[in-house]
Amino acid sequence: MRAAAPRNRPPAFPLRSPAAKTYLRGFGNEFESEALPGSLPRGQNNPQRCPRGLYAEQLSGSSFTMTRSKNLRSWLYRTMPTVDEEEFVQDDEDVFKHVATKYDHLDGNPNQVCCVAPLFLVPCLTDILQLRWKPAPLAPDGTPVTFLQGLWSIAGAGDPSAKKGVAIYMYACNTSMKDAFYNSDGDLLIVPQTGSLSIRTEFGQLDVEQNEICVIPRGIVFRVEQQDSARGYMLESFQGHFCLPDLGPIGSNGLANARDFEYPTASFEEVQGDVKIYNKFCGKLFKKISHHSPFNVVAWHGNYLPFKYNLTTFCTMNTVSYDHPDPSIFTVLSCPSETAGESAVDFVIFPPRWMVAEDTFRPPYFHRNYMSEFMGMISGKYDAKVGFSAGGASLHCCMSAHGPDRETTERAEEAEMSPVKFEDGLAFMFETSAILKPTPQAMSCPFRDTQYKVRDVASVKEGRGR
Ligand SMILES: [Fe+2]
Repeated sequence: MRAAAPRNRPPAFPLRSPAAKTYLRGFGNEFESEALPGSLPRGQNNPQRCPRGLYAEQLSGSSFTMTRSKNLRSWLYRTMPTVDEEEFVQDDEDVFKHVATKYDHLDGNPNQVCCVAPLFLVPCLTDILQLRWKPAPLAPDGTPVTFLQGLWSIAGAGDPSAKKGVAIYMYACNTSMKDAFYNSDGDLLIVPQTGSLSIRTEFGQLDVEQNEICVIPRGIVFRVEQQDSARGYMLESFQGHFCLPDLGPIGSNGLANARDFEYPTASFEEVQGDVKIYNKFCGKLFKKISHHSPFNVVAWHGNYLPFKYNLTTFCTMNTVSYDHPDPSIFTVLSCPSETAGESAVDFVIFPPRWMVAEDTFRPPYFHRNYMSEFMGMISGKYDAKVGFSAGGASLHCCMSAHGPDRETTERAEEAEMSPVKFEDGLAFMFETSAILKPTPQAMSCPFRDTQYKVRDVASVKEGRGR
């Protein structure tokens, strides 16, 4: 396909719009935004000539024929269309090259840093199904590491080419990306643990910090800019899109309220010179040179958009009588599967909350789960495990038995059943119906807690009730 020729007249707008820090609010709404007044066509999507000589371009997030309630698409009005004559070429190593020999917490092996194309281990019946990691190191001082360079995959399942499965990553970075990136394989949910990220997207700017999350849906171009050291987690869902869970008998309010989700407002840049664009496609990384910035969208409208959410606005539900509810009560976002009632993946948080259950073992109960559970700690302490620290992670795979450790169990059994407010930490869980498998680098990295399973078994070795 031939690239469209530049308009044969100077643009009727400045080269960069002021950074917009305001957000549009409301999950799943149809929004519209323009960085310059009069940039958005009125009454139609693609007029013969768009205002200001812009190009109209549709970005589809669902099949054209998807039911109206799930139909996702946006129209972007940009100074140049995305298509051009340059071709993507596969390049799995270049983006990681300069950190490969210096990023010693992953042993300096390029294959252990190059992790956006995860290679999952074949599952086997060993302790790998019950794993924990100490806090991952921050990006090393004096070595610039971008978000893309600092990504490493820790676990996953499925196949992006079949649009089924998930991948789970951690990141540690300390400098802004100069390039741009988009993911053809799925939606990305980013959970900062420390440090803030300024994420420039085609639709505008999202500033995300600890206690916030953001979602960058499949295909949307973005660049992560930041000045300080940052660390966090990322979930990639190859299937569907993140949506709010049904509330059922809870009613029309509660959990993550729709009004608290924030969407960017249009802003753009017209940089001189080339921009390198990376694309992850079927687990491989490709790159090309663009002769214009991909962040050249002057106006847009639609409902297929990146967004962010502040976890402290979560309206937590819990029992007010007895017993510990299933953790699904704390679900923030879900990607549904094709099986009614079963999520491909849920994003669940364990926020500060009152615990008032009477005659109840209040920590999470011992259990074996049909779903696979990956957990991370954003801040503070976890109420069911000693030694699970902020920046750490754990994986309890499908049907892997687990539960609170001995210290927690004994404390909970002796606890007075008065109301107690847990406010010392914020943990989260990526829970998926897929059987998660750890990556080779997740198994070999020096910060894997190799004593975790040993301690866990020791904690319950004294049988009781016989
Ligand atoms: Fe669990």
